Amino acid sequence: MSALPVAPPAATVVDARDLRRTYEVRRGFFGRPASVKALSGVSFSLRAGETLAVVGESGSGKSTLSRLVTLIEPPTAGALLIEGRDVSAAGPAERRQLRRDVQIVFQNPYGSLNPRQTIAATLEEPLIVNTGMPKAERREAVRAAMARVGLRPEFAARYPHMFSGGQRQRIAIARALMLRPKILVLDEPVAALDVSIRAQVLNLLADLQDEFGLAYLFVSHDLGVVEHIADRIMVIYLGHAVEIGTREAIFGAPQHPYTRALLSATPSADPTRRKERIVLKGEPPSPIDPPSGCVFHPRCPLAFDRCRVDAPPLEAKRGRDVACWAVEA
Ligand SMILES: Nc1ncnc2c1ncn2[C@@H]1O[C@H](COP(=O)(O)OP(=O)(O)OP(=O)(O)O)[C@@H](O)[C@H]1O
Ligand code: SF4
Ligand SMILES: [Mg+2]
Repeated sequence: MSALPVAPPAATVVDARDLRRTYEVRRGFFGRPASVKALSGVSFSLRAGETLAVVGESGSGKSTLSRLVTLIEPPTAGALLIEGRDVSAAGPAERRQLRRDVQIVFQNPYGSLNPRQTIAATLEEPLIVNTGMPKAERREAVRAAMARVGLRPEFAARYPHMFSGGQRQRIAIARALMLRPKILVLDEPVAALDVSIRAQVLNLLADLQDEFGLAYLFVSHDLGVVEHIADRIMVIYLGHAVEIGTREAIFGAPQHPYTRALLSATPSADPTRRKERIVLKGEPPSPIDPPSGCVFHPRCPLAFDRCRVDAPPLEAKRGRDVACWAVEA
């Protein structure tokens, strides 16, 4: 018997079960009401210290999922458990705590930072609203947070417009961390940054994850970034998770035809992974009238009769979960 202690498995901090979200809209000014199926039954888990990347085309439901996990919007159906607690069953006090535990960083920090507030006031605000911390401790917490994300102390009295994009994203990250969350939802956090700055912000995020054991739900359309930072990857198409697996499984041997097409469009630094480019037919269909059967069938190079009628379930095949009739067990 080994005398070595076995580390306990990291706790599951997000457990999403069949999450759905529809939006009621009108088609045109006098148009009939219609419902947009932005998310059509997405299930996944996220553990402490882990990064789950969410990838998919524009309009596939990535930001909708981010808003549900951050409790900004409730799901239309399905269950969301944060740290084992069912959000829909939580009372007001528990809900406030859950909101503190999950924070979000958006692509454009300019839109989420108050232009009339100094950086110090921006960082202090969540502490004033949510904690009974005395003023001197709040000031110290702000100073420590600024130092932790690489902002000089003299920046405290400045306003958001006085910073570069990278610095503003550091401020947004510092603010998200003020209440010591367990989970950060990062919705395209580096998409608006120059390549050199992008690497610095990604390194900062990696350091913060190690230090605080944070779980990241990381939305990105940049597969180069995803390959660099993700432990696992969820590919979504028209509101459906079509493949979920480890980075090695997804980048090494993608199985779903949509994942293959996405990856084939991204140049890889690894020559053994260079593949022929797969060009998909047509545009993604409207989430108001999604296709029958497998939602990917109108664009799928492998589609056959069954695909037009039966929706494939997401099931364990070839070392990941994948929703495709053509992938063998
Ligand atoms: N509040 C809303 N009202 C109506 N439709 C919405 C609303 N929010 C999102 N949608 C629709 O839901 C679908 C998913 O949108 P979402 O913003 O989640 O996609 P996304 O994957 O984040 O796209 P992008 O990569 O462009 O950010 C889209 O068809 C979008 O138009
Ligand atoms: S189920 Fe059919 S249409 Fe859907 S991805 Fe697989 S082969 Fe293509
Ligand atoms: Mg989005």
